[in-house]
Amino acid sequence: TEETQGQVERTLVLLKPDAVARGLSGRVLQRFEDAALKIVGTKMKWMDAEFTRRHYADLEERLGSEVYNLTATFMQQGPVIALVLEGYDAIATVRKIVGSTYPDQAPAGTIRGDFSHMSRGASVTVGKAVANLIHASGNREEAAQEVELWFAKDELFDYKTLAESYIY
Ligand code: PPS
Repeated sequence: TEETQGQVERTLVLLKPDAVARGLSGRVLQRFEDAALKIVGTKMKWMDAEFTRRHYADLEERLGSEVYNLTATFMQQGPVIALVLEGYDAIATVRKIVGSTYPDQAPAGTIRGDFSHMSRGASVTVGKAVANLIHASGNREEAAQEVELWFAKDELFDYKTLAESYIY
């Protein structure tokens, strides 16, 4: 039923500069596609200070200027790949696939758990920005704001995946 399937949602995902630089984009994207999340928008962008401020509008207020500055510097180290993903419960589903903010707490099987630890070349250091590969919207309000910030209406696409075009 509609209730058990949840609602169709759109969420913003960023493949952060560490993911792009390490050549993980393909494998990361595969995991989202395998979970039946549909790509409805994508672009590459090298964030500048002003855009970073808009994306992390409430971060400084929530976690302080040290965390904000670390995060902002890290996010401008290289280009990111932005995605809008659509699917049932997309916001929570993506967060589950991505794993915990802190890579050392992300279980195996999640993107962060599998790829963002030191033995794989990640640089997770106390007192520095967590190089955690992915940003994903936290809730509906954030998702709506972030999708609007990153994408114009004509950069988002309505289409059916092959699976959706079958009648079961
Ligand atoms: S989350 O995942 O959105 O709930 O995380 P949140 O705690 O709200 O936001 C934290 C964002 O700042 C990034 N960041 C850090 N947080 C805490 N401590 C340190 N040292 C740190 N360095 C960076 C963290 O990755 C979150 O960014 P996003 O892009 O939202 O994942």
